Amino acid sequence: MASLQQPPVQQQAQRAVSLIFPFDPDIRRASTVPARLYTDPVYLELERERIFAHTWQLVGRTEQVSESGMFFTAQVGNDSIVVLRDRDTLRSFYNVCLHRAGPVAYGCGKRQTLQCKYHGWTYNLNGELLRAPEMEGVERFTPEDMRLRPVAVASWGPLIFVNLDGKAPPLEEMLGTIPGRVAHFGCESMRYVMRKEYELACNWKVYVDNYLEGYHIPVVHPSLHKEIDYDSYRVEPHRYSSIQHAPLRPMPAGGGAERKYDPAKSDAGEAVYGWIFPNIMLNIYMGQMQTNVILPVSHDRTVVAFEWFAANPPADPATDPDWSRLVAFSDEIQDEDIEICETVQRNLRSRVYDRGRYSAKRENGVHHFHSLLHEFLT
Ligand code: FES
Ligand SMILES: [Fe+2]
Repeated sequence: MASLQQPPVQQQAQRAVSLIFPFDPDIRRASTVPARLYTDPVYLELERERIFAHTWQLVGRTEQVSESGMFFTAQVGNDSIVVLRDRDTLRSFYNVCLHRAGPVAYGCGKRQTLQCKYHGWTYNLNGELLRAPEMEGVERFTPEDMRLRPVAVASWGPLIFVNLDGKAPPLEEMLGTIPGRVAHFGCESMRYVMRKEYELACNWKVYVDNYLEGYHIPVVHPSLHKEIDYDSYRVEPHRYSSIQHAPLRPMPAGGGAERKYDPAKSDAGEAVYGWIFPNIMLNIYMGQMQTNVILPVSHDRTVVAFEWFAANPPADPATDPDWSRLVAFSDEIQDEDIEICETVQRNLRSRVYDRGRYSAKRENGVHHFHSLLHEFLT
């Protein structure tokens, strides 16, 4: 009977997944994810329900809620949420009024109560309904029993995450070994520098797949290939996360005039490229961190949001020469990735392609992501 109550779109997708997505945990035997998971809109609805509503999503920064009453809103899948500070406590709620689903907050700001922008019902920072004007005479209406629906919220360093699933494993479990591995990088005290968003004509998973392997570096990123030691590149999967190691290539004898980074200088060689299922990347260097959040807009459109943090932020990143160089190099790599991701998305619609095979040596990170997809979807 339960399945009769599900929306038809979900029923269809469930059937489709169970029928067409067998997955082999052994990478040597496995085929990649079927093309239709990237091209059919039905799967995005299923992913929003089964993946995005059950995983920790990076939605903002602690400095946005540094004082009691400060708040910001964010979108998680189809749900609008609000994150706020109530004295020492970080809280998050669905941004949905209990009256007729109006918004209790817009954008960001600082207030000591949340007043719905429709008919003015007012909630305190703990989510309790304080005032509901002109409701006298309404039966079985007890404001004391009514409160905004809470959302799990947690922070790590300058980053704030929420989870729509109150029973999900704690954030620490999703972050895996990343915090321990970067303890000496000082992420806790890094401050926000700048944000950049890119909109891509591809499914969100095409971008994540591409991030999780270094296999494409020699062909797609010739200038990056000059900097890194490709033979030592490896991906280390954990339960819900993975870490990529991409050490810098040693300097050739006599120096490398064309090289951007000198591995002998200033800890440049050390970096941790962390990925957290399903859509968060933390690229951490000595004194600097870049976060990437991959947000599906539709089945074939994706926003990639980059935010940069630094131990010593430049006064103005737009005019700081070191910072401009860093962003220009990041843009160059990003442009190369965008071009290949958009082309792959078009080709995934080809009548001749369905599933491919993995390089067991180079694509264990992609296979790991796909095994989590399979686990959450089925
Ligand atoms: S919907 Fe919020 S007060 Fe009416
Ligand atoms: Fe790339």
